[in-house]
Amino acid sequence: MATLFETSTIGGMVLANRLVRSATWEGMSDPDGRPTARMAGLYDTLARGGVGLIISGFAYVRPDGKQLPGKMGIHTDDFADDYRRITEAVHAAGGKIAVQLVHAGGQAGSQMAGTTPLAPSAVKVDQFPEQPAELTTSQIGDIVAAFGDAAGRAKDWGFDAVQFHGAHGYLINQFLSPLTNRRSDAYGGSIENRCRFLLEVYWKVRETVGGDYPVMIKLNASDNLDGGLMPEDAAVAARTLSQSGIDAIEVSAGTPVSGNRNPSRPKIDAPEKEAYHLELALGIKAVVDCPVMVVGGFRSYAVAEEAVARHGLGHVAMSRPLIREPGLPARWRDGDRSPARCISCNGCFKPGREEGGIYCVVEKKEREKKGATRPD
Ligand SMILES: Cc1cc2nc3c(=O)[nH]c(=O)nc-3n(C[C@H](O)[C@H](O)[C@H](O)COP(=O)(O)O)c2cc1C
Ligand code: SF4
Repeated sequence: MATLFETSTIGGMVLANRLVRSATWEGMSDPDGRPTARMAGLYDTLARGGVGLIISGFAYVRPDGKQLPGKMGIHTDDFADDYRRITEAVHAAGGKIAVQLVHAGGQAGSQMAGTTPLAPSAVKVDQFPEQPAELTTSQIGDIVAAFGDAAGRAKDWGFDAVQFHGAHGYLINQFLSPLTNRRSDAYGGSIENRCRFLLEVYWKVRETVGGDYPVMIKLNASDNLDGGLMPEDAAVAARTLSQSGIDAIEVSAGTPVSGNRNPSRPKIDAPEKEAYHLELALGIKAVVDCPVMVVGGFRSYAVAEEAVARHGLGHVAMSRPLIREPGLPARWRDGDRSPARCISCNGCFKPGREEGGIYCVVEKKEREKKGATRPD
């Protein structure tokens, strides 16, 4: 029986335990996408906090795939030293780090993307801020190539693995979803056709990094939207990727417009509300041979341990608990098994947009309150 605090392997990459920091946009890059020294500090702190694998915030593979302020770019060789500062800091602290590669597609706004956003089809759906332009076949090929180039940079710059973002309504997910993909060419229609872009990205990345370098995906197992990607279709995508040699699949669900079933659900304040993608992850696990990670609402040691030990999932990934407490894995490992202190309020998004970087606003308020009441 596997346990949370035992070593694990993903495509030859050995991890100290089965806890993963799920990709978390930090909002700390320069406006041109260059990672900052502050970001390197954040990743150093995370590595020291004992998590087995860190997955970076999403990094856009082309500037027209940028969606949020302070998002990092991995579209240019110019940032080599800045990324090396991050991977070296993590390795010096004994950690492992993967970079998450993304193109936001129609979820980008023209202000961030610098152009009319590109999407599988020119349809204005709720999750898109504006009407995108339909990608031509040659533009699709260019974006596939950009994923490959980005993965090559990541490998050169010391990342231990790459993960491409196939969840939360971004471009790969847009191709998978019949709601956003209305194409009638080889990229639309049947689920096999809707998987084509995803598989082209996978093969380009694989060709670039080679067979012995870990390649992972974060995949929506459902969009939790009427007309969006459904679990049966996600299972086809997962099975095909597994047969093609993907090294791990992280299962998530939802898009920004999936209401209370969005990827970062609020008010996870009881064990029964935790692990809200567990069933979907088990559905994916049933059809693949590679390790499956699950993300979404893990707050208690017992719930995380159960996902691995009882349900046989490879890894448990967390985002918000590690914003509040980057040292949570070490705390659990060392015997303090009280739940994560994150109250799932989602207050951390706002400073990422408005103050040059995410932080836990609840912790800050608590600190200020203590400071205010402390006697001189
Ligand atoms: C501030 C913030 C930034 C996020 N950025 C990303 C991201 O860059 N890529 C991604 O796949 N998911 C991102 N997510 C979603 C998380 O990785 C995770 O899937 C979700 O929050 C559920 O996990 P949790 O309950 O442990 O937070 C982000 C979430 C938060 C709160
Ligand atoms: S602001 Fe703090 S408590 Fe609220 S979700 Fe973010 S990390 Fe958790």
